[in-house]
Amino acid sequence: MATVVVVGTQWGDEGKGKVVDLLTARADYVARFQGGNNAGHTLVVGGKKIILHLTPSGILHPDKVCLIGNGVVVDPKVLLEELDRLRDFGVGVAPEKLVISAYAHVIMPYHRRLDLARENRKGHGKIGTTGRGIGPCYEDKVARTGVRIHHLLDETTLRRRLEAVLDEKNFLLTHYYRQDPVDLEATLDEYLGYGRLLAPYVGDVSARLNQAISERRSVLFEGAQGTHLDVDHGTYPFVTSSNTLAGNACCGSGVGPTKIDHVVGIMKAYTTRVGGGPFPTELSDPIGERIRTCGGEFGSTTGRPRRCGWLDLCVVKDAVRLNGLATLAVTKLDVLTGLPVVRMAVGYRCDGTVLDGLPPEIDRIERCQPIYEELQGWEEDIRNVRRFDDLPTAARRYLEAVQDHVGLPFSIVSVGPGREETIMLKDPFDS
Ligand code: GDP
Ligand code: IMO
Ligand code: MG
Repeated sequence: MATVVVVGTQWGDEGKGKVVDLLTARADYVARFQGGNNAGHTLVVGGKKIILHLTPSGILHPDKVCLIGNGVVVDPKVLLEELDRLRDFGVGVAPEKLVISAYAHVIMPYHRRLDLARENRKGHGKIGTTGRGIGPCYEDKVARTGVRIHHLLDETTLRRRLEAVLDEKNFLLTHYYRQDPVDLEATLDEYLGYGRLLAPYVGDVSARLNQAISERRSVLFEGAQGTHLDVDHGTYPFVTSSNTLAGNACCGSGVGPTKIDHVVGIMKAYTTRVGGGPFPTELSDPIGERIRTCGGEFGSTTGRPRRCGWLDLCVVKDAVRLNGLATLAVTKLDVLTGLPVVRMAVGYRCDGTVLDGLPPEIDRIERCQPIYEELQGWEEDIRNVRRFDDLPTAARRYLEAVQDHVGLPFSIVSVGPGREETIMLKDPFDS
C-alpha cells in the first residue's frame, strides 16, 4: 500500500487526468484536494474521451472510491451535470463510489457573477480566469462568510448564511458593477434542491481517508492546476486562488503529512499556459502554432487556445523543490515528433545576471531571456512505443537531458492520450 500525490509542475494541463486514470489501477481511493471546476482533466479510454471538472479522475474504474476533499470548491450544478454525463458515458456513480466533504465550500451564483464582472472591468490587466467563480468562493471561505456543503442540507442555516452575505454581494453587484441583484428566495430554493440531490454523497472525507490508510489501502491524491498557478508560489497575481502544491493534499483532505509516501510531478514535454501572465519560453511563431495544433492545445474547460512554448526547466526545477517531487511523469512527448530541433530552457538571463529559477516579481520574469539547450529532434512515430529503450535515440537524449538537469528519475513517459499509450518505468505505488 502507498499514498501518492500527483501534481502539475507547470501552469496546468500537463496531463494529470490521464496519469491519475492510469495510476488508479493501483489505488483504492482517489481524492481531489483543491481547485474546482476551473480544472479540466481529460481521460481517453478505449478511444472514448471524457473531460472531468470536479469528479476525481479515478471515477471510470468501477471498484474505486473517489473523494472530493474539504479544500475543493464545489459548484453543485456542475457536479450534478457531470454525474449525468458520466451516466451517459456508461459510468454510474452510486453514493458508495463518491464522497463529498461536508466542509467543502460551495460556489454560489454571486461568485460566478463577481468573477466575470471583475475580469470584464479589468480589461487589459485581466488574469484570464475561467469565470467559474473560483476566486470569489475562496475569498468568502477565508473571510469566513462562505457556504459549505453541509449548509445546503439545512434550510434554516442556509437562509441565515445567505441573509448575512447577500446584502454586501448585492450592493457590489448593483452599485459597483451595475448588474442585477441575486434573489435570496430563488437562490435558497435552487441550492436546497442541490443539497437534497447531493445529500447521499456527503460524508467525512478525512475520516474515510485516514481509516483507509490505517487499513493499509492505497490512496491517490489528484492535484488540479499546476505548481506555477499556486496562490503563494506561482506567478502572482496570474495564479488561481488555491494552493496547488503537494503540501495542500494534506490540508485539503484532512490527512497528515506523515501519511504521504510519494509525490509525482507531471511535466508536459513542452510548456503551455492559458490566460494571462508571464511565460518566458512562449513561442509566438510557426513552431508554437505547430505545437498547439499537434498537441490539441485548446482549453479543456473554456476552449481557449493555450499559449505554447519550449520546455522550461527553471519552471520544472522550482516544482521539484516546492512539491518535494520523487519522480517525474513526462507527457505528450509524441507531440514533439517531427521537429528538426527541440529546445529546453536551462536558465535565464535577466538584468545582467543568470538565474536558474523564476524571480518573484512579474516584471522581472517578463525580462527573463531563456538560455536554451538545443537538441536534435526525431522523425519516428513513437505512439506505439512501450519501452524506454525502443524510443528513437534523439527522444531518449531529450529525456536524459531533462533528467540530468532536474536530477529526478522518470516514473512514466506518456506517448499518447490513451491509457495504454504509456511507458511505465517505475510504479509510484511501489515506493
Ligand atoms: P490536465 O488538466 O493536466 O488533466 O490536462 P488536460 O486534460 O487539460 O490536457 C491534456 C491533454 O493532453 C488532454 O487532451 C489529454 O487527452 C492529452 N494527453 C495527455 N497525455 C498525452 C500524451 O502523452 N500525448 C498526447 N498527444 N496527448 C496527451
Ligand atoms: P487543470 O487542472 C490551466 C488558470 C486560468 C487563469 C488562472 C486563474 O485543468 O490543469 P481561475 O478560474 O482559477 O481563477 O483562473 O488559472 N487555470 C488553469 N489553467 N489548467 C487549469 O486546470 C487551470 N485552472 C485555472 O486560465 O489563468
Ligand atoms: Mg486541464
